[in-house]
Amino acid sequence: MNVVVARTIGTERLDLVPLRPEHAEEMAAVLSDPALHTFIGGTPDTPGALRSRYQRMTAGSPDPAVSWLNWVIRLREESCLTGTVQATIGPGAPGRTAEIAWVVGTPWQGRGIATEAARGLVDWLTRQPVRTILAHIHPDHRASAAVATAAGLTPSGEWDEGEIRWHRSTGR
Ligand SMILES: CC(C)(COP(=O)(O)OP(=O)(O)OC[C@H]1O[C@@H](n2cnc3c(N)ncnc32)[C@H](O)[C@@H]1OP(=O)(O)O)[C@@H](O)C(=O)NCCC(=O)NCCS
Repeated sequence: MNVVVARTIGTERLDLVPLRPEHAEEMAAVLSDPALHTFIGGTPDTPGALRSRYQRMTAGSPDPAVSWLNWVIRLREESCLTGTVQATIGPGAPGRTAEIAWVVGTPWQGRGIATEAARGLVDWLTRQPVRTILAHIHPDHRASAAVATAAGLTPSGEWDEGEIRWHRSTGR
């Protein structure tokens, strides 16, 4: 069963807004820099391809035990979208696990946006039926490691497909 549903999450400067296909056009411009894919692979999507991707994402996981939660990051003061955060919640061992990730468009990087968004997301996840929060981060990706640290995650020393597994317990 999809027990967790994305809600709007407000932080000091940001609204994390549940992602919709209508966000694709603005997000295609936000995510248009190929450099964003250095550590996560792939290439930027066209607006049409991104809309199709967002339609698949919002349709939800085919596995009813898994929730796909996605948000766009809206910078309130500038009324613009700046990136995305996501959480994939599913069965773990033991308890449910949320795997999280983040991306911020190049023009908005270095302003603490990923840090603030990840903290807001992790704080929200600690109030959901989730026991462990996970992220997989390339060992050379210093910015992402800093974001994970600020959100209370620590490196586990375990490797998964060339990335290090970071984790945080929610205490549930
Ligand atoms: C990782 C990413 C989201 C960071 O976004 P951001 O909004 O610039 O991050 P912040 O401004 O919150 O900065 C986070 C930390 O990274 C540091 N940082 C930012 N850019 C950096 C860079 N190019 N090199 C090293 N450190 C960097 C900041 O100084 C800050 O560290 P601090 O808290 O110790 O000062 C962004 O670079 C990105 O989207 N990259 C491509 C997608 C990606 O790889 N996502 C990760 C998947 S897990």
